[in-house]
Amino acid sequence: MDKVMIETKTEPPAVMEKKEPGDEVKRLSLAEAAGYFEVKACKVDEMKIGEMRNIAIPGQKQQVLLGKGYDNQYFAMGSACSHYLALLKNGAMGQNRVRCPWHGACFNTKTGDIEEYPCVDGVHVFEVTTENDTVVISGHAKNVDNQRRTLQMCKRNGDDVSNTVVIVGGGCAGLTCAETLRKENFTGRIVMLTGENYAPYDRTKLSKVTPQADLGEAPSSSFR
Ligand SMILES: Cc1cc2nc3c(=O)[nH]c(=O)nc-3n(C[C@H](O)[C@H](O)[C@H](O)COP(=O)(O)OP(=O)(O)OC[C@H]3O[C@@H](n4cnc5c(N)ncnc54)[C@H](O)[C@@H]3O)c2cc1C
Ligand code: FES
Repeated sequence: MDKVMIETKTEPPAVMEKKEPGDEVKRLSLAEAAGYFEVKACKVDEMKIGEMRNIAIPGQKQQVLLGKGYDNQYFAMGSACSHYLALLKNGAMGQNRVRCPWHGACFNTKTGDIEEYPCVDGVHVFEVTTENDTVVISGHAKNVDNQRRTLQMCKRNGDDVSNTVVIVGGGCAGLTCAETLRKENFTGRIVMLTGENYAPYDRTKLSKVTPQADLGEAPSSSFR
């Protein structure tokens, strides 16, 4: 029978069954088995302030962006912009933020939050520690390949008819306002007044893709 061995430091290896027949016996650390990764990225004094580079994570298709900020601290975050996946290492670093080279979205290097349009999703951040003279990046492996970080939003509560917010404008600012209300657990009615007959959509696509393409309209059902 095919098996996976899980290594522990203090106890004999635990054994669990592997589902795919034909796979070889594989040893996993407890952290790996729980879906975490830990990678030695570089020496502490190897990178210059303002420098950014991509670090490969074993088992993941995407990479992690490692940077040394102007506060002399390392940060690690998703390597691709949550808009159209441009590589952020080719962008510009500011104080605690990285600006995307394609359409200018800005991401906070400490939190991964989006701080400037045109998109509304953030990116994931990863923990950076030092072990002796080595910089180590760790975090959830699934967040490496998942380049967009969409925050959890509550749903509209149809019974809540006493609270209504009216947003004038259905551009990125209006969409961000509506999403922020839902992220902050506002379950009342959201009414959006716009000059268009569409739910909020990505205006940057108007000048960068063909008219037939999907305009990336936001799902409007959660705002009503
Ligand atoms: C073709 C194109 C390409 C772009 N490319 C990029 C890019 O590559 N990078 C980038 O950073 N930005 C780009 N932008 C700019 C980006 O789309 C805007 O910065 C962004 O849309 C601004 O968002 P907003 O919500 O402030 O305003 P808008 O998106 O302009 O939204 C304003 C909203 O208000 C509504 N409104 C206006 N007046 C009234 C009224 N009197 N009553 C009710 N509703 C009203 C409008 O109908 C609209 O829904 C591009 C824009 C266009 C048009
Ligand atoms: S790909 Fe980054 S802002 Fe568009």
